[in-house]
Amino acid sequence: MYILSRNKGSETLLLLTLCLSNSFLVAVLVSLVVYKTTQRIKNINTILRSYAMGNLAPKARWVGSTGDDDIDELAELLNHTAEVIRQIMDELSREKSKLQTIFDKADDGFIVVDKESQINLINPAALHLIKAEASQIIGKTIIEATLNHDLSKLVERVIKTNTAGSLQIELPKGEPTFLNVYAAPIEPTGALVVMHDITEAKRIDAIRRDFVSNVSHELRTPLASIRVMAETIALRGKTHPHVSEEFAQKIISEVDRLTAISNDLLDLAQIEAGRRNIRSEEFVLKETVETAIAGLVPKAEQKAIELSIRIPDHIVVNADKGAVHQIITNLVDNAVKYTRPSGSITITATESNGWVSISVADTGIGIPQEDIPRIFERFYRVDKARSRESGGTGLGLSIVKHLVEMQGGKVNVESQLGKGSVFTFTIPAKSS
Ligand SMILES: Nc1ncnc2c1ncn2[C@@H]1O[C@H](COP(=O)(O)OP(=O)(O)O)[C@@H](O)[C@H]1O
Ligand SMILES: [Mg+2]
Repeated sequence: MYILSRNKGSETLLLLTLCLSNSFLVAVLVSLVVYKTTQRIKNINTILRSYAMGNLAPKARWVGSTGDDDIDELAELLNHTAEVIRQIMDELSREKSKLQTIFDKADDGFIVVDKESQINLINPAALHLIKAEASQIIGKTIIEATLNHDLSKLVERVIKTNTAGSLQIELPKGEPTFLNVYAAPIEPTGALVVMHDITEAKRIDAIRRDFVSNVSHELRTPLASIRVMAETIALRGKTHPHVSEEFAQKIISEVDRLTAISNDLLDLAQIEAGRRNIRSEEFVLKETVETAIAGLVPKAEQKAIELSIRIPDHIVVNADKGAVHQIITNLVDNAVKYTRPSGSITITATESNGWVSISVADTGIGIPQEDIPRIFERFYRVDKARSRESGGTGLGLSIVKHLVEMQGGKVNVESQLGKGSVFTFTIPAKSS
């Protein structure tokens, strides 16, 4: 009984101990699970905090999880969401940098203003156009920045009426700058102003207008004298046959000059329209120069001008033969025209660093220093009457300049009044 009761007592003790140790184990296990779950939630919390601060780099990673409970699903979702946001943000930042590049590198000026016409944003092209620094301009109004009332009024109207508008303006700072300005509303914050520089287009337009009036002037003079001479022949030709003969000769030379003008104009027009293509080939320079001046030898002989070529036989150029022929003809024709009888003309050539430099030197009348920068302009002549008398068109040197530059070369002139001139141009040598 005792034994039994003792036995019973130990059983109870054992049972009690077992019970106690089981519940302890459960408690430990439960608290372990709770601890882990808390840790995982804390982990999510930390990651969310870093996302909230804009850092999407950390990823949720679960140590010891089974990978299939709700928290894991949440982590998976969190990672996926972060990935999607990261992709959207990358895309946005790529788009932003594209827009920034357009804004920075555009030739046109862009200005963004607020409702009060105050400048919020301005690109380098606009700063260049209004000749200002960004630091001085941000926050200023359009009128303060550009000093242009028309532009300021346009921007105010665009903001007020919420409709786009455009106009042409001239900026007063420094060299005159002409702009085409377009302004469009940006709802609800202000307006965008786009400025396109048309100064160069206006300059070219003015040159074209000048050119047309020059051409008509050039044509009017010979046409008027042809008319007068033809009338004289009609009135007095029968009774004064020698007058008919003399004026008929004059008419012929005027018509020749008109033909020369029209040929030169055609050449210039083709060159400037880009229709004259340069066809480079290798040829012996001396031979082409000799052919080019052949037609001018009688003219030089008439004036007892000594015409000599001092070009080494071995110089071979890689250039457009027709163009070189035309350049030499024009320069030597001028040299013969503007050199007094018994003078001399020498054509020389040297080769260095892949270029051949060709000079036409004369002992002629020379060119005044102040005219030198202008003689390559169309129709520019130092002495109009003299040029006209000798059949000049005033276009020869502009053609020369174009033809040389089209081949990558340069043309240059040195001259001393009363002593003579040296015209030098370069063309590519045969590649070694
Ligand atoms: N070798 C030269 N010596 C003096 N003046 C020159 C010479 N070459 C050109 N010029 C000046 O440059 C002007 C322009 O030359 P160019 O265009 O060939 O026209 P053109 O010979 O028809 O007058 C000439 O009118 C002349 O005043
Ligand atoms: Mg000429």
